[in-house]
Amino acid sequence: MDFAELAALASGHAEARAIQTALKLGIFDMLERSPLDDAALAAAISANRRATALIANAMVALGLLDERTNRYSLTEAARRYLLRSSGEYLGGLILFDEAIFQTWTNLEQTIRSGLPARPTDMFQSRPEETERFIRAMDSLTRARGDAAYVADRLDLSNVSTIADIGGGPGTYTVAMLRRWPHLRATIYDLPATLEVARKILGEREPASLARIDLVRFDYLYDDVPGRCGALFMSNIIHNEDETDNAQVLRKCFRALEPGGLMIIKDHIMNAALTEPRAGAIFALYLLMATRGRDYSFDEVSRWLGEAGFVEIQLKALPSPPFTSSMVIARKPLGKI
Ligand SMILES: C[S@@+](CC[C@H](N)C(=O)[O-])C[C@H]1O[C@@H](n2cnc3c(N)ncnc32)[C@H](O)[C@@H]1O
Repeated sequence: MDFAELAALASGHAEARAIQTALKLGIFDMLERSPLDDAALAAAISANRRATALIANAMVALGLLDERTNRYSLTEAARRYLLRSSGEYLGGLILFDEAIFQTWTNLEQTIRSGLPARPTDMFQSRPEETERFIRAMDSLTRARGDAAYVADRLDLSNVSTIADIGGGPGTYTVAMLRRWPHLRATIYDLPATLEVARKILGEREPASLARIDLVRFDYLYDDVPGRCGALFMSNIIHNEDETDNAQVLRKCFRALEPGGLMIIKDHIMNAALTEPRAGAIFALYLLMATRGRDYSFDEVSRWLGEAGFVEIQLKALPSPPFTSSMVIARKPLGKI
């Protein structure tokens, strides 16, 4: 690694905070219709003119705004990912990162104590936090394209019902229903999340609600009711510890029809837990905010094998843009 790369990594929080703040102030949305000079932009976001010019200049330096004759306009990347009106809006995730910045200030303390730095409540305690968290998941998955990519690569032709455990905003469920028109789905999740899911699906995919059941469910305490042909869990195992993950996968095994498909999507790490890089860094956030971390393929396949699954396979997603993989396994045909 050279000096420039190290320096950029070590001070990366400054760029992140500048982008988060520009987004939160509404700078990108204010430039959607036409370029503005610093005075007009400052008035539009109700901010100080000199300071607005400085943050707008910083966005020019980062390639998110253009500036000509003191008028700021959006670059192609900003128009695609930073406008609320865009189908690939990444702002939900960026605003969530802005909101959890305080959590990162506790990293030293968490490393010393090994204890979380915030309640491990999956943002269920305050409605505005739940909504920000669930919209962040939706925003990341839609902007990066995970859901459509995954739905295209799974063979669900012989599956009539799929359960999305901890399905959150339902972004993956909707993509699978689109790709597989015969399919019905159930999203199993905590009550506060389901309220947000209903809102998001109603806003964007009202027709899909006829094919989706939303069921209150706590995977730590409840058994999956009934039987399904496939079970999907995206970004779930990284929130829980080893014992709970092994137990959840045993429940999943019981809930599947014989021959049923278990699909896990997450950062799946190498045995040393150092690759992919995004997973190794994200594990620090998980340490501060959850009971989990990112797990290796060996760990996940051991839980699956102990639960009774066979044909356990790792399917890496192309990186970039993706940073996660799928682990797919099957319940043997003879097992009930
Ligand atoms: C990181 S989000 C992932 C959402 C979605 N699967 C995705 O990948 O976009 C974790 C999800 O698990 C849900 N969850 C967390 N703990 C849960 C529990 N004990 N029982 C059921 N759902 C839970 C959260 O409400 C949230 O929707």
